[in-house]
Amino acid sequence: MKRKLLVTSALPYANGSIHLGHLVEYIQTDIWVRFQKMQGHECHYVCADDTHGTPIMLRAEKEGIPPEELIARVWLEHFDDFSAFHVNFDHYGSTNSEETKDFACSIYGKLKAANLIESRTIEQYYDPVKAMFLPDRFIKGECPKCGAKDQYGDNCEVCGAAYTPSELRNPYSAVSGAKPELRESEHYFFRLSDQRCQDFLKEWTTKGTLQPEASNKMQEWLKGALSDWDISRDAPYFGFEIPDAPGKYFYVWLDAPVGYMGSFRKLCSERGIDFDEYWKKGSETELYHFIGKDILYFHALFWPAMLEHAGFRTPTKLFAHGFLTVNGEKMSKSRGTFITARSYVDQIKNTEYLRYYYAAKLNGTMEDIDLNLEDFVAKVNSDLIGKYINIASRCAGFITRYFDGKLLLPDPASEEGRNLLNGAIGSGQHVKEFFEAREYGRAIRDIMAAADKINVDVNDAKPWDIAKEESRRQELHAICSKAMHGFYVLSIWLAPILPGTSNRIAREFFVMDRDFLWDDLKVFPSRINPYQHLMTRLDPKTVEAMVEANKESLKPVEHSPARHAESQVHHQPILDTISIEDFSKIDLRIAKIANAEHVEGAEKLLKLTLDIGTGTRTVFAGIKSAYAPEELVGRHTVMVANLAPRKMKFGVSEGMVLAAGDGKDLFILSPDEGAAAGMKVK
Ligand code: MSP
Ligand code: ZN
Repeated sequence: MKRKLLVTSALPYANGSIHLGHLVEYIQTDIWVRFQKMQGHECHYVCADDTHGTPIMLRAEKEGIPPEELIARVWLEHFDDFSAFHVNFDHYGSTNSEETKDFACSIYGKLKAANLIESRTIEQYYDPVKAMFLPDRFIKGECPKCGAKDQYGDNCEVCGAAYTPSELRNPYSAVSGAKPELRESEHYFFRLSDQRCQDFLKEWTTKGTLQPEASNKMQEWLKGALSDWDISRDAPYFGFEIPDAPGKYFYVWLDAPVGYMGSFRKLCSERGIDFDEYWKKGSETELYHFIGKDILYFHALFWPAMLEHAGFRTPTKLFAHGFLTVNGEKMSKSRGTFITARSYVDQIKNTEYLRYYYAAKLNGTMEDIDLNLEDFVAKVNSDLIGKYINIASRCAGFITRYFDGKLLLPDPASEEGRNLLNGAIGSGQHVKEFFEAREYGRAIRDIMAAADKINVDVNDAKPWDIAKEESRRQELHAICSKAMHGFYVLSIWLAPILPGTSNRIAREFFVMDRDFLWDDLKVFPSRINPYQHLMTRLDPKTVEAMVEANKESLKPVEHSPARHAESQVHHQPILDTISIEDFSKIDLRIAKIANAEHVEGAEKLLKLTLDIGTGTRTVFAGIKSAYAPEELVGRHTVMVANLAPRKMKFGVSEGMVLAAGDGKDLFILSPDEGAAAGMKVK
């Protein structure tokens, strides 16, 4: 029976890069979608960038660009990253779209008509300098429990205490450093406390839509009455303005899941798919959301309640997964294990290795999964290269050399032939069930067990010896054909996981004019093209280089009150154009700050001794308001090395260091890790 499925992955925030943690989800979903498509089902996979909210607004402001420009740039980056990992969306959209806006407004309208929206005045922290209300994570202060400084508004990273922002001692705005004030504002709420919502959710979360662990968690939350959900934010905010409520915007989590509909709506217009068939109440199509366990709350409570009471269908199932750890620990920037998708592509290149490794570890539960980097190298090399690819690289050559590419087909009349044919379909049934249940690890165990068997047969028969005896050609043909048919079956089973390699194998090797389908297991090929190199061993050096490339040696910039320039970007006009010759007259050099000291009587200056490899220079720099001398010693920066010396009140200054901003909000430049004193900057 042909099924109709709509599948989504969570929409990644547009304020950061895709990393290997994200990819657990997108790879897991992509494998499932490819598997469904290979079964011949009608399956659509949509996703989008999640573009709204305060962090994105502030980041755009910091970069001095409109948020639309920021999200357009990030969209391209995300799209490239996903493509590199063979994550093949049917449509990758943006929540900042007309479609999403229309659905968000109409859902809101329907909830309002159902008397499920209420407005209420609340008190919230307000930044008087920046003139905006502050989300919890933009308020910092001292932990009310342990007194640790610079803790976020909702919990303490030092002692783990949870609290509300109003409990913080000496709170300050992480945006401007100002002392926040409590102010009143009118907010809109989705009345989840309404009996209709409670009744609906109690039923919905216990009828097989959730994994057992997830369902249990939701029952805990549903035990006490649910509180109403605050769905509005005040201007300035980057998002959709609420109809009939000027200056009020939908909270990002209101329109984010609506982005699933918006993105699918776009796909429908591109391909002539019937949107309503997938979203109307009582729809017979299937809707699945793959999500991380951290966002279960939004997807298992708010989202179905929104859909239900706005007259749409609700999801068939939610598939929640655990979090990625690297080498058994939380991903860490200082250890270099917060690995971006881009750095993986740059260093390791072959993204199917990671797809394979994740698949081997995934099991359809909410358990965390660990990427152990040593094990990663070992597994890829022993399984993919040593077991799978090895079959073809050892046997295909004989078929080409002695048999003109022809394969001996198993004879359905003989018992052995029947076993072979039925084996492919029979074991395929287990593999298929494991894929369907998202038990990819178990699918891979079966697939590799089959690969082991084929290798044992080849090792026992030793085709490389038989090939030396002219009289044993028939035997050679049978052994190598059988091995190649085994390789064919393995390639079909692995196609959802290794789409690039398998489909190259289908087309280049087994002479097909399309990608593999699951039903290809029923028809063995009768010939092959000459073997071409398929996959290289994973070199552990590239893994080390990747970790190195992700190491953040500098302490992240602290958002302490004194050192934050987000709100201070002045848009100065760009100066007149100069030629490259003009530019090349400026000799910029990496300088190591060998010494830094106060200058007696100077209000603004620090005296720097700069090492530029060939000697040292003394520079008086106007950076005293932003830096203490001891913060600077040992750092690398960039200087103009051929600036005419200038006689100043306190001595001769022999050059200039480069910095942005002024006063307290001044930032000297640092080269990336590895640059050495004296290097020319060009
Ligand atoms: N924008 C929201 C989702 C809105 S969906 C309507 C969001 N974005 S996110 O970028 O933070 O995360 C996107 C997905 O990646 C989430 O499902 C999240 O759980 C998953 N992961 C992010 N980091 C992860 C790991 N370290 N490990 C596994 N999955 C992780 O949440
Ligand atoms: Zn604390």
